[in-house]
Amino acid sequence: IAQRVNVDKNAPPEVPYWIPYLGSAIAFSVNPIKFYSDNRKKYGDVFTYTMVGRKFTVCLGVEGNNFVFNAKLADVSAEESYTPLTTPVFGKGVVYDCPNHMLMEQKKFVKWGMSNDAFRAYVPDIVEETKTYFERRWINKEGGRGDLFTAMGELIINTASRTLMGPEIRALMHESVAQLYHDLDDGFQPINMFFQWLPLPSYFRRDKAHNEMRNIFMKVIEERRANNITDKTDMLQSLMNQTYKDGTPFTDTDACHLMIALLMAGQHTSSTTATWALLFLAENPQVLQDLLDEQKEVLGSLDAPLTFDSMKNLTLLDNVIRETLRLRPPIIMILRKVLRPLAYTGTDYVIPKGNYVAASPIATQVDEKYFKNAFKFDPHRWESIVEEDTGETVDFGFGKIAGGGARNPSLPFGAGRHRCIGEAFAYVQLKTIVSTFIRMYDISLTEKGMPGSDFTKMFVQPLLPVEINYKPRK
Ligand code: HEM
Repeated sequence: IAQRVNVDKNAPPEVPYWIPYLGSAIAFSVNPIKFYSDNRKKYGDVFTYTMVGRKFTVCLGVEGNNFVFNAKLADVSAEESYTPLTTPVFGKGVVYDCPNHMLMEQKKFVKWGMSNDAFRAYVPDIVEETKTYFERRWINKEGGRGDLFTAMGELIINTASRTLMGPEIRALMHESVAQLYHDLDDGFQPINMFFQWLPLPSYFRRDKAHNEMRNIFMKVIEERRANNITDKTDMLQSLMNQTYKDGTPFTDTDACHLMIALLMAGQHTSSTTATWALLFLAENPQVLQDLLDEQKEVLGSLDAPLTFDSMKNLTLLDNVIRETLRLRPPIIMILRKVLRPLAYTGTDYVIPKGNYVAASPIATQVDEKYFKNAFKFDPHRWESIVEEDTGETVDFGFGKIAGGGARNPSLPFGAGRHRCIGEAFAYVQLKTIVSTFIRMYDISLTEKGMPGSDFTKMFVQPLLPVEINYKPRK
């Protein structure tokens, strides 16, 4: 009854729906990848669907990715898509709660805190955190079952807080910060994009947690200033001393808010990736063995220290992370709100103002056209893939990015001006955790096999519980 008549003949085709307002929300949230692929067969690469009263025009394929990621600032806005969700959690004045040129400068500030020197200092800390974590918990000498998802969640927050956030925050992790993180996380769910006006109890907890978290960061900043501490290499220290190009100060409150944003942006993305990577290794014992052999060959032995520089030569390990992110990217939909009617390149379509355009790089990541046996986990495939380097670069103000980047068929970190700032850190963290873990344990899947995906969360994660069989290595 509620099938909308498409009044604009140039608008992209619309997916029909029966329930007014809700539109395709149910089919989409059960399995967005199937929803996209089924409708792509009917409507082509560009089509519109309705969810909770909003219209989303998805642009699939490498051209679709490029269209969304490289759209002009005057045409589309990430801020208008994300702020209802992000501002209450991160706080005001940062990321999407400020003009884009300020975000570009904030990304530059963050980049300084993710230098190779910082990474050199982080790796031994991550190794130690990983060893200590498992030595205390996965202790059965004969082996047993471990809750992998919980372990990776706790380990990522412990290692990110010890490295990026600073030792003071790590020290509080067992007490207040872990709980505050959970309350913030409960308020960082897709529902918030649509129903930010509802008086949900989780929103009150989220707002309280935001204030307390900011106060914790603020206290650390004040103590560091009072004690004249300047020798820290962490992100907080680098954010404490920044000024925008036009002289506007980047205040301590801004620094606290950006720290919360980094914590939230890096937590689930990295913890689900670590979980999936180890599940794939448990499912593929030959790849697991190849990884151990690589360590012996490149580093000399499985006891050789893992360092930032030595891990650079572990290419199979790199490819295990790359392949995991190709098959199980935690972010499968990237949104921008259309600010003025937007002609879709190479067609007659004009996407109406007020729609959201969506990119979904997973569509090309599992496309046979680009990846043979696309659904098979095969990290070795990357040995023969030469990622195209057009030589062309674009400077968005926070560093140069390969211009042809948005047409790469595998884009788990996005592309263009909003490309992820945490990729290098995520690789360091994930490589260190995975290699330390596989030195400690042999692993295999339980009788349940590989878990399916839960698409109802902000970041796609495995369906819980995720257990794994482990056996300590002699
Ligand atoms: C943005 C993926 C880890 C910080 C993004 C985007 C993607 C992404 C796809 C683009 C969003 C868009 O265009 O709308 C990932 C994945 C990660 C990861 C797959 C790990 C496996 C991290 C980490 C941090 C981080 C560790 C920080 C420490 C950010 C920030 C943005 C972002 C601040 C917003 C950038 C902007 O809008 O300009 N990430 N991310 N991410 N990421 Fe990550």
